[in-house]
Amino acid sequence: MCGIVGYVGYRDAASVCKDGLMHLEYRGYDSYGIASLSPKLSVFKSVGKISNAKNISSLKGTCAIGHTRWATHGVPSEINAHPLTDCGDKIAVVHNGIIENYAKLKAALIKRGHVFKSETDTEVIPHLIEEKYTGNLLDAVSKILPMLEGSYAILAVAEGENTIVAARKGSPLVLGVGDSEYIFASDAVPLIDYTKNVIYLEDGDIAEVKSDGYKIFNGKKIVKHPISKIEWDASVVRKSGFPHYMLKEIFEQPDVFSNTIQSVKENKEVVALIKKASSITVVACGTSANASMIFSYMMEAVCKIPTRVVVGSEYKYFPTPASSLVIGVSQSGETADTISALKISKDMGAKTIAVTNVLGSSITRTADVVLYTRAGPEVSVAATKSFTAQVAAFIEIVNLVSGKKLEPAVSDILRYLPDVVSADVSSAVELCKNASTLLYVGRGMFYPVAMEGALKMKEISYIHAEGYAAGELKHGPFALLCRETPVAALCLHGATYSVMMSNLKEIKARNAPLVAVGEAGDQDLEDLCDVFIPLPKVSEYAGIILSSVILQIMAYHCAVALGRDVDMPRNLAKSVTVE
Ligand code: G6P
Repeated sequence: MCGIVGYVGYRDAASVCKDGLMHLEYRGYDSYGIASLSPKLSVFKSVGKISNAKNISSLKGTCAIGHTRWATHGVPSEINAHPLTDCGDKIAVVHNGIIENYAKLKAALIKRGHVFKSETDTEVIPHLIEEKYTGNLLDAVSKILPMLEGSYAILAVAEGENTIVAARKGSPLVLGVGDSEYIFASDAVPLIDYTKNVIYLEDGDIAEVKSDGYKIFNGKKIVKHPISKIEWDASVVRKSGFPHYMLKEIFEQPDVFSNTIQSVKENKEVVALIKKASSITVVACGTSANASMIFSYMMEAVCKIPTRVVVGSEYKYFPTPASSLVIGVSQSGETADTISALKISKDMGAKTIAVTNVLGSSITRTADVVLYTRAGPEVSVAATKSFTAQVAAFIEIVNLVSGKKLEPAVSDILRYLPDVVSADVSSAVELCKNASTLLYVGRGMFYPVAMEGALKMKEISYIHAEGYAAGELKHGPFALLCRETPVAALCLHGATYSVMMSNLKEIKARNAPLVAVGEAGDQDLEDLCDVFIPLPKVSEYAGIILSSVILQIMAYHCAVALGRDVDMPRNLAKSVTVE
């Protein structure tokens, strides 16, 4: 949600901002804007996709700030788009986060004669800066920050200074340190074309950046944060010949799986904490919650440690006893509900772990211990490789905690995943793409796999899909079964196989078309279903990853067949930074 980019250096700053914002498109947005200094302040704003922006070439200069807005206060419109300016249009600000006391500040500013143009909470910031500005932007921003309540990542520029002043509290902001050039962004992805050197700003930081250097303050003190190296290459954030990022990311999964396993092996602290835990609570949202549910099944079945999953937004109603270990799982590391759940549990005295894919993300500052899944940046809104990475991390954790009980699963996945990513699912797509409702069913660990398959399908194809524990179908969803309601079933050999077969017969008896993912050579299953998708004979734990990938490909090809915006589905944001 909301993307920020700022550049000061020697290049055409507005183009750098535009390219950077295009790298952040996956965060989700409805309007965008850029302000540049040349030396006069010029602003261009519009509604829609930034790739369609024609007039950005009119913005000159080597210092600019830009923003993609996901509307919270005020409708998506050119006026409400950032950057927002002061009365004299000499100061411009972009902001990610929410200024909770903006109404009070705005009323006071209006009384003092300020005229507001937008309905946003953000606009109070340039007006407040205007009141304190006497030729030094750093000074003015430092004076107004204590007045702001809420969360923010802010970039500000003022006519007459080729400088960006940035501030961070609760919303992500990184600074790329190049050679006589500096680039701010909401995450490291836009930096990669200019530098691999990155500083993760901390809450309370204020940075002043000019083309010849930068200073970071926290309070009144200058602080020296370490410069980290971005671990991945620019190719990771290019489509590299694939029609969509989602397909590319699906194909990256075999490499991701190995990277994640390695990351867990190197992280002794996480495994040690889990070994000691008498109970575990996992908090997560969306796809991360589905991966976490797989973890809970594995922990209980293999390690015998009671493990429950609570979705981030519900955690405050189910707080955990302080003796429980709490694990926050978030691909982006920025999901507000997951972070606030971790904060609540920390305040109650629980030990906390963050499992995330993004280095330096907000969740890493909240938890006591961090495990990086190392899937590389994920651009498509629908999570694929980051899900596999989370499940891979969980498999390896369980493997290490249990004394290598899951070793066969790890080798099966390494062996078969490279072929499974290009499995043929065309008949399943034909059967599902025109449905208005789809049901996904599985038992045991395949129940969360079914939920994740359904989530993928609804996110990107807009077909209504629900994942159910196969045994639950009779308790309501059976009423939906008819020739027009296809069912996708996960029916691999193992503990759940025979009862799944009975459930599938009941489904077929109601005439619902059936797509089944099963073990190659399973003639009974193949005879029963309409479309059979074979997987190699693997351990049950490997089957969860391989069948999840099949469901990702099915959703992808359905969405393509329906002409959907696969990488940026309507109304969704990759990083949900509001509760
Ligand atoms: C958003 C995304 C989902 C994601 C969820 C949790 O809704 O669209 O793909 O699963 O947030 O995100 P996280 O970054 O915390 O895993």
